[in-house]
Formats: sequence, C-alpha cells, structure tokens
Amino acid sequence: MAVRYVLRMGHPLLRKKSRPLELAEMEWSNFQLLIKDMFETMEARDGIGLSAPQIARPLCVIVYEIKANERYKNLKTAVEPTVLVNPYIISRSAERNLDWEGCLSLPGLRGEVPRHQWVEIEALDREGNKLQRKIEGFEARVVQHEMDHLNGILFIDRMYNLDKLSYTPEYHRFHAEESSE
Ligand code: NI
Repeated sequence: MAVRYVLRMGHPLLRKKSRPLELAEMEWSNFQLLIKDMFETMEARDGIGLSAPQIARPLCVIVYEIKANERYKNLKTAVEPTVLVNPYIISRSAERNLDWEGCLSLPGLRGEVPRHQWVEIEALDREGNKLQRKIEGFEARVVQHEMDHLNGILFIDRMYNLDKLSYTPEYHRFHAEESSE
C-alpha cells in the first residue's frame, strides 16, 4: 500500500474524462492495489472521498468513507468504506441543497455548492457486483462531488457564485455555522 500524491487544481489530468473499467480489469491485482492506495491516500490526507483521477489514474473509480477527522470534525453522517466503479446516476431529485465542500485537489479552500438532495445510482462494487442504491443528504453530496471528478469537473465549477469561496480558517470563522454537517 502507498499514499499517493494528490493532483492539485491546475493539473490538466484533473480536467480530463476518466474511462470506465472493464470487468476483466477488476480481476487484476492492480485494481485491488489501486483501491487500497486510494483509501490509504484519503485517510492520510483526512479526506472523506477520493476519485482515481486525483491520483493520476483516469479510471471511473471512486471511494469514500464518511467519518469525523481533522478536516471534518463534526460530521453527523457516518458511512462505511465504499467503492463505486463505473457509477452513473439513474435518477435524481429536482431539489438541490446548498452546503459546504472541500476537496483534496483544492487544499485549503471551502465553497458552498448546490447538489441534488438525493440520487439513485448504479455502479459495480469492488468485487464487480452490480449495485443500485438511492442515497441522500451528505452521502449524496460526496458521491456527486466524486463523480464530477470522473468528468473533469471541480466543485468550484458548480458554485452559483464565488462570493463565499473561502480559505479554511475564514470558513471556520465566518461560515461554519451555515454548514448542516
Ligand atoms: Ni474533490
């Protein structure tokens, strides 16, 4: 296992579309290594989600684990370690919520981003089994954020305006109480 370098905004690979994984590729040990590296990198950086392109692997793979850590101290939501391969959204709520997000590729920044309140997704799990799931609230936000990375989209692209784009200390000083998480 290894902690990988996380690409930062400005790196062209963060703006590229990732490609879906073939089922056969998921049987390769490289794939399980990729997943391990992604979890280890995410944990080392106190992230709650990570996409493969962020570690320079342009593949449709995201991982997340929602639990309180140094960057997210007061999370109300908790979700077990989850792997989604080739995820896509089948249906989504018309309603969008505004809430605050950060990103390991934009270190030190937080912004208020609109996301669908719920999404129904289809994906493969780490063993290649098809899964279909309706997720909502903060977990839906994390998944939409990570899926955006697979299309070269960063959270600042989704912001309605940049007035509140903040460095982390200013976020905590002026905006933290606006966050529902
Ligand atoms: Ni991100």
